[in-house]
Amino acid sequence: MYSGLKHLHILLISLFVISVLIKAILLIANSDKFDGYRKKTKVPEMVITMLFLVTGIIMISMRGGGLHYFFHIKLTAMAAAIPLAIIGFKKKNKILGLLSAVLFIITIGLALKSGNNMKEVHVDIPATDPNYGKALYEANCATCHGVGGAKQLGKAANLTATEMTALQIGYIITDGLESMNAYKTLDSVEVKAIGDYALTLKSK
Ligand code: HEC
Repeated sequence: MYSGLKHLHILLISLFVISVLIKAILLIANSDKFDGYRKKTKVPEMVITMLFLVTGIIMISMRGGGLHYFFHIKLTAMAAAIPLAIIGFKKKNKILGLLSAVLFIITIGLALKSGNNMKEVHVDIPATDPNYGKALYEANCATCHGVGGAKQLGKAANLTATEMTALQIGYIITDGLESMNAYKTLDSVEVKAIGDYALTLKSK
């Protein structure tokens, strides 16, 4: 369900951005097709935008947990691109139209790079506490991998069956993997504690 929604979400925004790009090209080329295209796509674009927002909100509510700073950058870029597009195309201002198209493309690039927008959480207990790794794991990883390691939200790997060592798990945490975002602000002590704890979840 989560993966399906995510694919739909990406498809919707891709359609929308392709449409904005077509409009920008028609406008810049002084094409007489511009007005007709803009008129015809107005309602479909509105529907696509609504569905895009709804799928995004459902995904965030399914996942719970905090949002990565990347998500806020993405949202800000999007929030700036929308009025630019509306004003640019309405007033037939080529520079604004093009700027909005470029901003939308950057936003998609950021979205693909940022993975699932998970916030990085530090915990208040000392690193020497035996529950340190567990607390970090549960705060940062359990949303997708589950408290026990076997939940597989959005095609997350089953950690109870992983073949990886704690070191390899550490690399995945700091570098990310496909839709799992990199945890850049977790330091080496935190990463090691999480890796060691994740291995204790393996089914013997
Ligand atoms: C937003 C969801 C999400 C969160 C949060 C998340 N992961 Fe992942 N994780 C994934 C996905 C999806 C994959 C599978 C990626 C792939 O194979 O392309 C994955 C794969 C992995 C793998 C690879 C396992 C294997 O055997 O292939 C490890 C290890 C891992 N995650 C550890 C962690 C740890 C540790 C944390 C917390 C710091 C964490 N993950 C947080 C989604 C997430």
